[in-house]
Amino acid sequence: MPDLAAIILAAGLGTRMRSERAKVLHELGGEPMLLRAMRAVQALAPTPLCVVVGHQAREVEGIARAGFPDSTNLEFALQTEQRGTGQAARCGMTAIPPDFAGDILITYGDLPMLSPATLTAFRAAHRASAVKVSFIAVTLEDPAAYGRVIRDSSGDVTAIVEARDATLEQRAITEINTGVYLVEAAFLREALEQLAPNNAQGEYYLTDIIAIARARRMRILGWCADDATEFAGVNSREELATMEAEIRNATNRKLMTAGVTLIDPATAYIADNVEIGADTVIGPNVQILGASKIGCGVRIEGTAWLSNVTIGDRCHLKLGVRAEECHIGDDSEIGPFAHLRAGTELAGHNRIGNFVETKKARLGLGSKASHLSYLGDAVIGAGTNIGCGVITVNYDGYDKFVTEIGDHCMVGCDTQLVAPVKLGNDVYVASGTTIVREVPDGSLVLSHHPQRDKAGWTAEFHKRHAGRRPWWVEKG
Ligand code: UD1
Ligand code: CA
Repeated sequence: MPDLAAIILAAGLGTRMRSERAKVLHELGGEPMLLRAMRAVQALAPTPLCVVVGHQAREVEGIARAGFPDSTNLEFALQTEQRGTGQAARCGMTAIPPDFAGDILITYGDLPMLSPATLTAFRAAHRASAVKVSFIAVTLEDPAAYGRVIRDSSGDVTAIVEARDATLEQRAITEINTGVYLVEAAFLREALEQLAPNNAQGEYYLTDIIAIARARRMRILGWCADDATEFAGVNSREELATMEAEIRNATNRKLMTAGVTLIDPATAYIADNVEIGADTVIGPNVQILGASKIGCGVRIEGTAWLSNVTIGDRCHLKLGVRAEECHIGDDSEIGPFAHLRAGTELAGHNRIGNFVETKKARLGLGSKASHLSYLGDAVIGAGTNIGCGVITVNYDGYDKFVTEIGDHCMVGCDTQLVAPVKLGNDVYVASGTTIVREVPDGSLVLSHHPQRDKAGWTAEFHKRHAGRRPWWVEKG
């Protein structure tokens, strides 16, 4: 029998976001904030972890499930009407087996900064003090609209009072409730039954379980966390941007400590789970998102958008690279202005130059496409050169077809490869060739139109337009 279950409250819309989207779906550090909140809780491996959904319930559930595809502990409870945190917790309890006898961790989906370390320390303190009810408190200079922690003369917690329901004297208290609780299941079930909406907002307040515990003469742990920033919620777009900047700064600091140079940290947008090796230099205006992994000694000149990429050691990304879901092997040189689309796999020592687009293209060791090409659905061997303007004609409007090119080929400029088509090894393609069928190993292939010259033709042409100068010579 598991000894910990969890409930994450995430049904609210977040009115002050002024958004059609539920607040927990707004992104922070490159992912919906709910996933960050869930990850901290998942570190404690609760069974089940129940997310209470309401606004955009289906989308929220979908994103939560997609974020933890291997987790078998997820449950979802629908709160159709948002009648307060207490009622939300009641909804959450419906997903927890009635015979569950451990502790229940309750947090919010809009606490994206909460760390697993803090939750672990909180749980240890809760266990050590052998109480049935604990919550995390912090002290703030400006306690704003948070619930105030009320203690008696001996320092024991007696209640949490919402700012709206507080007396002037209570409002002066700077110790506040963060909204994170650990409560023994049996007591929580009973206490939630007792909640009544007799307060300024006419809501069922989860915080009232504290006064209920006190009335039963139970001891309550108000555990004071050191770092209040972990409990900053997001209520507006401005707070979202501030938190984004904080997350970004923390990620950048971590990377710099690990030996990564950021030429301008203010314009480095790197998701916090991205791995980057030492002595890599990241220029200005670079976004690195998703589960990207970048090797050592890599140079990214600047203005790049990289998502779910792996980049080997010593690669050089020149100005203006967009790459997603691809692998770039060691010692490759990419750009300037290159577009590597999903399924691009470069074995290493490759060169992808300016205005080259690749999609589902595999290039063997040392192969190059230096200028102006489209390589889609292509399997290219090692040591092959793709000349300027080479195009794989991979699509007939209905289906996509594969182009195969062997090792050590020299594909001349302005060649079209009409797929499905295959070039053997050591093939030499004359420039301007249209390839429509298989070329055997070691061949020269060409489809030139014979060249014809007509001497004096240009002067004759101008004469036919007597008195006028053509536009291309006008300014000359
Ligand atoms: C709550 C606490 C307050 C604490 C503060 C910390 C109560 C009564 N008050 O206040 O003591 O200082 O959090 O941030 O609990 N939610 C639902 N369904 C609902 C209502 C809320 O799922 O019916 C979710 C929201 O989506 C949100 C969380 O619960 O994630 C907190 O709700 P919110 O309305 O922000 O609570 P506060 O009034 O800020
Ligand atoms: Ca709030």
